[in-house]
Amino acid sequence: MNTPLDRSTLDVAPFRARRERLLARMNALGGGVAVVPTAPEYARNRDTNYPFRYDSYFHYLTGFGEPEAVVVLIAGDSPKSILFCREKSEEREIWEGYRYGPDAAREHFGFDEAWTIGELDQRLPDLMSGQPVLWCSLGHNGDWDARVMRALNTVRANARAGAIPPHAIRDVRAELDEMRILKDAAEIAIMRRAGDISGEAHRRAMAATRPGRFEYEIEAELIHAFRRAGSQAPAYPSIVASGANACVLHYVENDRQMRDGELLLIDAGCELDGYASDITRSFPVNGRFSGPQRDIYELVLAAQTAAKAAIRPGAHWNMPHDAAVAVLAQGMLDLKLLSGSLAEVLEQGHYRRFYMHRTGHWLGRDVHDAGEYKLDGQWRPLAPGMVLTVEPGCYIRPAEGVPEAFWNIGVRIEDDALVTEDGCEYITEAAPRSVADIEDVMREAADGAA
Ligand code: GLY
Ligand code: MN
Ligand code: MN
Repeated sequence: MNTPLDRSTLDVAPFRARRERLLARMNALGGGVAVVPTAPEYARNRDTNYPFRYDSYFHYLTGFGEPEAVVVLIAGDSPKSILFCREKSEEREIWEGYRYGPDAAREHFGFDEAWTIGELDQRLPDLMSGQPVLWCSLGHNGDWDARVMRALNTVRANARAGAIPPHAIRDVRAELDEMRILKDAAEIAIMRRAGDISGEAHRRAMAATRPGRFEYEIEAELIHAFRRAGSQAPAYPSIVASGANACVLHYVENDRQMRDGELLLIDAGCELDGYASDITRSFPVNGRFSGPQRDIYELVLAAQTAAKAAIRPGAHWNMPHDAAVAVLAQGMLDLKLLSGSLAEVLEQGHYRRFYMHRTGHWLGRDVHDAGEYKLDGQWRPLAPGMVLTVEPGCYIRPAEGVPEAFWNIGVRIEDDALVTEDGCEYITEAAPRSVADIEDVMREAADGAA
């Protein structure tokens, strides 16, 4: 088959298994037909598009990375999965590269049928007719919604000729979210590798940091490490924030020259084969933590340690956050960032002045991944196979009443935790975390450069 080698080595079994699981779930809920499109292409300017990134749900079910593709799953006694994709085209392939085309895609990715995307509008009404439920995701893309509704209305219009429209529309993403929240073995293997690559990238960034360099030079080290290890892209815009910028939570300009005596906060992770990693490290630009920097760093690290200890099957979603907040609040009192009693600081939320975000989020195909945090109004219990970030922080802007020694210190420490049978495991251990490890990496780099 005329398939580039790198693509032909993809193991399609996990994708087939996910389609089968979704079909079984649909059958349990009354059967029907599911229609899941990949992402649209977006223009950047004039005739140039943003780099294409497939839709996370679509790719989760198919492993198919080309634009202009839709998967249709038909539940019932003889379930079917059908791909619509771009047609083969010698002319387009000369300009844009290889395309599978329906025949090779069907064979390679294990679909029952495959058709060109140009046939979708004509075939979709027939595929919907007679199905009790239409599973789709409405409200995310107006053009797509209109396309699906046109197909549905065609079935309705043909009722006299024997077409039977679905009597219910249900949200396919809600079912997929519940699947995606528990990572299968193939996903965990990719996420471990993504964690390793990102961890090594942070190590490289630490080794490259010194006074006088610009934040973007360090961003370039991260991108270098991601790409040379096979990652396709950063999973989100890298934050490389020195000095006061570390207190801007979503700083992405990355254009400032770093100075001696400041901290640098880097929040960056690669995307590998559709999966995000998400790591933050905070370290001194000159390689040695000052006293106040170390105080805040050790406090945030203690909060992270407490949060990690709270992650185990059966613990609920908010327990790591509560554990981190308790440590941070006490530390803020000890360091005279806050005054009053611990109970008051917790109850009134005074700690939010310096810690204004949550301690984590689900991680997977999307950096803030799919899945509910509450079930029936209660925090969700953690279970083996879930992956979440653990990312406490402390951000101190200059202000009256705040000890000046701490001004402009912004620290976040973020790792990615896989819930195991009896606790959790960080998959981001490759990134140096302790004060001693960070200072060692930076000292060795400085010695090597001298
Ligand atoms: N990098 C995004 C986050 O930490 O949530
Ligand atoms: Mn995060
Ligand atoms: Mn992050």
